[in-house]
Amino acid sequence: MALARDLGAGQDAQTQKDAAEQNFDYMFKLLIIGNSSVGKTSFLFRYADDSFTSAFVSTVGIDFKVKTIYRNEKRVKLQIWDTAGQERYRTITTAYYRGAMGFLLMYDITSKESFYAVQNWATQIKTYSWDNAQVVLVGNKLDLEEDRQVPTQDAQRLAAELGFQFFEASAKDNINVKQVFDRLVDVICEKMNESVNGVAGPSANHKGASLKDTPPTNSGGCAC
Ligand code: GTP
Ligand code: MG
Repeated sequence: MALARDLGAGQDAQTQKDAAEQNFDYMFKLLIIGNSSVGKTSFLFRYADDSFTSAFVSTVGIDFKVKTIYRNEKRVKLQIWDTAGQERYRTITTAYYRGAMGFLLMYDITSKESFYAVQNWATQIKTYSWDNAQVVLVGNKLDLEEDRQVPTQDAQRLAAELGFQFFEASAKDNINVKQVFDRLVDVICEKMNESVNGVAGPSANHKGASLKDTPPTNSGGCAC
């Protein structure tokens, strides 16, 4: 009986979890991109599961996780796509850019090569995504300060040139992980509000409208 009760309780918890997953005010599709091994998968696991492993299992193609957050009294469901950084998957991964409202463009502060690739990734965003997609440039592996190859100022300057937000972070030590996602959600919401108020072009609003499981009550824009 006790077991049956426990199972019942477990099912209740699952049902509540499922309901919570369905229960949201906005849904944003986000993509994490950048060179292989910069820490994209690690960053997502830290954010979604609060876990980290030092083993490197390079992502094959694309994967995603869902996380619902609360931001300014709104439930925002995030569908976060983790792309493979390896060149050979580029055709698959760029197919997912369309419809993304936000990007985490990641490099590794201990790898100049990954930083030099940022410009190229930015071009990919311009080519394959909607015009108003918001981007946060993230310099990961901040815990490896002694091996740093990319000065903070260089990255700051590049982010400003490209019109991106900028953070340095560490998936390993959980530095600025939540902050990166919160900022991305905030800038997407700001863009949507501007769009609703007629300041910006209409494309940001179209993005929200095109997400098929966004409840219809949201059509008035984001009040985040
Ligand atoms: P692809 O899937 O090939 O595109 O790589 P990725 O960008 O997803 O890299 P992944 O998250 O698999 O991490 C690559 C390696 O870097 C792994 O060994 C991780 O443990 C390590 N790593 C990731 N983030 C950090 C970090 O913040 N600090 C340190 N020291 N290592 C990290
Ligand atoms: Mg990966």
